[in-house]
Amino acid sequence: MNLKYIIYISMMLIIVSCGVTSLSINNQNIIFSPDGTLELNISINEGGFLEYSLNKDNKMIIEPSLLGIKADKFDLTSNFKINSIEKSSNNESWEQVWGEQKVINDNYNELKLDIKSDNNNLNMIIHFKLFNDGLGFRYEIPNQPRIENSYNIVDEITEFNFSEDSPSWWIPAYAYRRYEFLYANTLISEISRDKFSELVEHLHGDRIGPEAVQTPFTTQRKDGITIVIHEANLTSYSSMTLKANGTKNMECDLIPWSDGTKVKVNSPLKTPWRTIIVGNSPSDIAMSTLTLNLNEPNQLNNTDWIKPGKYIGLWWEMIGTNESSWGSGPYHGAQTDRVKDYIDFGSKYNFDGVLVEGWNTGWDENWCCTGDGENFGFYHPHPEFDNKEVTKYAKEKNIRLVGHHETGTQINNYESQLDSAFIYCNENDIRVVKTGYVNDGSQNIKRVTADGTIHMEWHHGQYMVEHFRKVLETAAKYQVSIVVHEPIKDTGLRRTFPNMVSREGARGQEFNGFMPKDWNNKPNHTTILPFTRLVSSPMDYTPGIFNLKDYRYNSNDDRTINTDHHIPSTIAKELALYVIIYAPIQMAADLPSNYEGHPAFQFILDVPTDWEYTYVLNGEIGEYITTVRKDINSSDWYLGSITNEDARELNINLSFLDSDKSYNATIYKDPLDGGWESKPEEIIIEKTSIISNQNLKLILPPGGGQAIRFSPRNK
Ligand code: NOJ
Ligand code: CA
Repeated sequence: MNLKYIIYISMMLIIVSCGVTSLSINNQNIIFSPDGTLELNISINEGGFLEYSLNKDNKMIIEPSLLGIKADKFDLTSNFKINSIEKSSNNESWEQVWGEQKVINDNYNELKLDIKSDNNNLNMIIHFKLFNDGLGFRYEIPNQPRIENSYNIVDEITEFNFSEDSPSWWIPAYAYRRYEFLYANTLISEISRDKFSELVEHLHGDRIGPEAVQTPFTTQRKDGITIVIHEANLTSYSSMTLKANGTKNMECDLIPWSDGTKVKVNSPLKTPWRTIIVGNSPSDIAMSTLTLNLNEPNQLNNTDWIKPGKYIGLWWEMIGTNESSWGSGPYHGAQTDRVKDYIDFGSKYNFDGVLVEGWNTGWDENWCCTGDGENFGFYHPHPEFDNKEVTKYAKEKNIRLVGHHETGTQINNYESQLDSAFIYCNENDIRVVKTGYVNDGSQNIKRVTADGTIHMEWHHGQYMVEHFRKVLETAAKYQVSIVVHEPIKDTGLRRTFPNMVSREGARGQEFNGFMPKDWNNKPNHTTILPFTRLVSSPMDYTPGIFNLKDYRYNSNDDRTINTDHHIPSTIAKELALYVIIYAPIQMAADLPSNYEGHPAFQFILDVPTDWEYTYVLNGEIGEYITTVRKDINSSDWYLGSITNEDARELNINLSFLDSDKSYNATIYKDPLDGGWESKPEEIIIEKTSIISNQNLKLILPPGGGQAIRFSPRNK
């Protein structure tokens, strides 16, 4: 059927004009999700305050919760009257340029509430979209005579009042390390920084800002229903955190500018979508497509230059093994010949890219963590890195460099070089750049105004949201994709700008490299990420470390091995992470010498990074997860399964496989008596044949995992 026709028939509008305070006439205040399981109710209570609530399967999961915005020049939080209610629905599909699945269904019922506040006679529209996997809503304040062109939002009063005080998984907001924390697991009512310090990591430093958590914030009710609060399409706004107050209720809290205002608005305003992703189980929410559906369609005319793929890099030898350094000196890593060795290895195994960190100027003086060091040069190669020679060599070997822009959060310095930096990429055949924003505090980003005044901004405020967007759009202009470290959180912009390929934004593998042993990522960390940070977004976790013990020098200068350091993982689990953690551009993070000749390396070479279908077969937050994905370019399927500290057996139904085919399965697993502590570097590789109506039993030892490739026998 013609797409235009589908849109036409699905957009039938029902408009009701009310001009009254009562919303319940003819149930005009209610919509259901297309499958009827979710029900949204809007009401105006006695004080003229506007509220919404959400039911799932006739059970209230979000109790009446306030909606509204306060600005410095007006108040849109009370004395509301309805102008009109408009309802419609949509059911269409769109294709991703790359992703966890090719086709995404955008199916929702929507309600647009046009209201007026008697406080000031101003209008606001609240736009609700109810999908089968949750709710999104946003505020729109149109231009109108009584609103000036620009104003400041001082508060958004949106509430999320859960009907049950359930276990939740969260990381603190207003803390020094952006999003790079392990997760706390407490009841919603127990959320506090003191609790985080007690359970996870002592939060040092000044306490600024309220008790609040970052989103995605995940909670699971007793009946298994899992709820994630997040936002979609964070544009020209500050990011939302959730304020906790010792009850089961939470409230939107916007990260402020240094002057205390929350958002500086150029009228008209459309806020990001506030989202409540809902599933029957954790596996459901891990497959949600709501965040992407609430972003604008692809804006790039040509996307042929955006290529999913895999890369290696001159990186782990700095951050992991302490063998070399970013800066100048006897251990400087990014030297022409050494880079050429990486190019040889990458080319031999058909990798798409070689990341080189420390290739440019600026690393020699306090680059970390104040924003005060020597200015980084983003098109200024270090004298020991011959960029022309390396570019030529890479071209001959049919591989590309992955560029690196560590900014050290010198934002003015980076922005002043942005075009030149990406022109340099273009000239040197660099199609992917990893950016970085290392700084040791969150409200420690210097914004320098034209008169030279310095303002300290939060990493998550509107200033940085706008900076990250500027970099993304400039990169697109020069056909460069970006992988952002220390990013702003992912709110689904990759749909609009598919060159936003990946980002960090959580504790990645590198913490296992540079942190002292007891501060490593715990075995359960990667069983929490899929249900929190990774809900609907790629991550540059950088899996694939094979040398898990005795790999780290004490320092560049002290080349004795730190025998106490040990990554809490197994090789089989490292392989499984390529399937569990989605990224269109995945790194094989270990040193080439640890891969060369290793039989398990084959899995890294085989595993794709662009998929036709994805299913999360099972999972409990912080315990285990099994994900299967089908390659977009072949009939192969891949499975990844991982566990936390506990051993477990999982029975897998293989009905996702094609019932007309039989498959060769290559299984990469831990020994039965293995696991992260006992035999992390032992791996068993088995080949067997399999059909779809079989069941498979996965036996995972403590901290272990399993990875499987299924290839049809007669293709
Ligand atoms: C932090 C990034 O996460 C890491 O990958 C990078 O190597 C360092 N910054 C240096 O840029
Ligand atoms: Ca980082």
